[in-house]
Amino acid sequence: MADKINVAVVFGGRSGEHEVSLMSATSVMKAIDKDKYNIIPIGITKEGQWIIYNGSIEKIETGEWEEIAKRECKENSSVAIIPLNEAVKKLSGMVDVVFPVLHGPFGEDGTIQGLLEMADIPYVGAGVLASSIGMDKVYTKKIFEHEGLPVGKYMLIMRNQFNKALQKTIAAIEKEFEYPIFLKPANLGSSVGITKAHNREELIKGIELASEHDRKILVEEFINGREIECAVLGNDDPKASVVGEILPSHEFYDYKAKYFDDGKSKIVIPANIPQEKAAEIREMAVKAYKAIDCSGLARVDFFLEKDTMKVYINEVNTMPGFTKYSMYPLLWEQTGIAYGRLIDRLITFALERYKDR
Ligand SMILES: Nc1ncnc2c1ncn2[C@@H]1O[C@H](COP(=O)(O)OP(=O)(O)O)[C@@H](O)[C@H]1O
Ligand SMILES: [Mg+2]
Repeated sequence: MADKINVAVVFGGRSGEHEVSLMSATSVMKAIDKDKYNIIPIGITKEGQWIIYNGSIEKIETGEWEEIAKRECKENSSVAIIPLNEAVKKLSGMVDVVFPVLHGPFGEDGTIQGLLEMADIPYVGAGVLASSIGMDKVYTKKIFEHEGLPVGKYMLIMRNQFNKALQKTIAAIEKEFEYPIFLKPANLGSSVGITKAHNREELIKGIELASEHDRKILVEEFINGREIECAVLGNDDPKASVVGEILPSHEFYDYKAKYFDDGKSKIVIPANIPQEKAAEIREMAVKAYKAIDCSGLARVDFFLEKDTMKVYINEVNTMPGFTKYSMYPLLWEQTGIAYGRLIDRLITFALERYKDR
């Protein structure tokens, strides 16, 4: 028992992807090698409270963990709802490595990574810089452009610019783009707040929706492409997996299609594309990974334009969906690394990176 590695699996979080995190973390906790690792589940509520959770893993996905943990806190003063500074102090005393299975803002964006750096605790995945770049779709594009990686045409508009000068903003967008036009909050994930606008009315609604989530709104040209994804794993010498394809069930791969469509969106691995294209995509995935100074893991998402077969990079996810049935683990499985071993590799990379620094 004493020589087991103590892994704090942090789940939930303040972002719109709270529920997705619960699913990913449950999978991780079920599959992790219990002979080698001792898990300490730590939940973060949507309000941002940190709670050490001692209950059954089954109750995490359903959200019931929160009630159970809070009840236990009331009954047993040794398990407390911990303020952030206390949480960090406690963590550094009892944890060898943290696996922040958190998606979206306040998790995948460099904030918890910064906290763990301050506390001098090793953690799985990308560091502060790569996490925050990866979360910001505009900065990701800027860096990719700089590295000569192909990105679709885009424009950044600010919420207050739109609010102050609606007509002017709309005119500027319509001058540059043809419908359909994609609108996205710059910092989010899981398709939350994204609109495919087919006309001016939808454009305005789409900007309004995106601006509920962020002050920065990304306007993008529509790419009529297949959705190809590649998994990357490693620190300074990262490797790319085989590539996979998403066949969305909805008009685009929106939040519903991602998580609630009873498996009607299909994952195809390896993607049925020419070998040279797959090789090109894998190479770009590694280049993109290095461009943002990533470590641990990332899923790099592409569009393969249907007519021209031109490849565009869409985005990098530094903490991709991580259930057993998510693209990232499935890609590695098909490349020869099974789910349990993948978790083991990620923790090893986390400890190596910590030593390296
Ligand atoms: N420019 C675009 N052209 C065509 N489809 C797009 C475009 N941008 C996004 N999409 C569709 O919307 C989905 C979600 O957008 P994405 O940028 O990946 O955001 P998220 O971070 O929420 O996953 C994509 O998987 C794709 O189906
Ligand atoms: Mg995406």
